[in-house]
Amino acid sequence: MSEGGVAVVIGVGPERGLGARLCERFGREGLHVLAAGRTATRIEAVVARIRATGGAATAVATDATREADVVRLFERADAMAPGRLELVAFNAGNNAMKDFLEMDAAFFEDTWRVACFAGFLAGREAARRMVAQERGTVLFTGASASLRGRPPFGAFAAAKAGLRSVAQTMARAYGPRGVHVAHVVIDGGIAGEKLERFAEFVRAKGEGGLLDLDAIADAFWLLHRQPRSAWTHELDLRPFKEPF
Ligand SMILES: NC(=O)c1ccc[n+]([C@@H]2O[C@H](COP(=O)([O-])OP(=O)(O)OC[C@H]3O[C@@H](n4cnc5c(N)ncnc54)[C@H](OP(=O)(O)O)[C@@H]3O)[C@@H](O)[C@H]2O)c1
Repeated sequence: MSEGGVAVVIGVGPERGLGARLCERFGREGLHVLAAGRTATRIEAVVARIRATGGAATAVATDATREADVVRLFERADAMAPGRLELVAFNAGNNAMKDFLEMDAAFFEDTWRVACFAGFLAGREAARRMVAQERGTVLFTGASASLRGRPPFGAFAAAKAGLRSVAQTMARAYGPRGVHVAHVVIDGGIAGEKLERFAEFVRAKGEGGLLDLDAIADAFWLLHRQPRSAWTHELDLRPFKEPF
């Protein structure tokens, strides 16, 4: 077990994705990282990279929308280092385009389950431990859609707005009890695997038009390291030339 305590990252996918990059950053900072995602090969690859550079990490196959999975994930953290849950990042997201006229109920509900309900489950389990410790940081990954509903991203926007509300509620409830809760609005495209499927979009953004994964991970770490006399609750990040 690492001296630095435990970090849990939920929503870990490909190497060039934010979840994976957060794991690697937190591992470099000396935390034992629990990398949670649905695809075993992906989370094991993240863990292998952290270990290869001398860090400590464990892959925990988790569907973040299943309460039993999330409870089990946090019990793993308890078993590893009781009272040492330092940092939780909820990063799962599933943006997909669909007009409401074409949208069946299951699409809307599934989007909400991943991007909002799963965030509540993660936040609740984190808070149950961190309130008792009187210490810890919970970070939620938001998007432009967290602040603005617009077609064809309506389901995603509704879910991300809900997640933002979960984060605000937690910050107001548990901040005074020592738990730092922050919501990070990623206001632009991330230079990662997901956008590789949208080559035209990436080309149109041009040089420096996307957010760099390491730069985002730096911002998450900075939030965790803030002294409690000056905590940020909401941070927005965008490339210098993104219109807003
Ligand atoms: N990509 C962008 O341009 C962009 C822009 C603004 C905001 N964001 C936000 O940034 C965050 C990360 O986005 P990203 O594109 O970089 O993705 P990422 O971190 O590479 O991937 C997140 C991973 O979460 C996993 N996941 C999805 N549903 C899950 C579930 N039910 N349980 C557990 N894990 C689940 C998926 O991996 P598996 O399928 O392997 O489980 C997915 O690859 C998201 O919250 C997203 O909304 C992204």
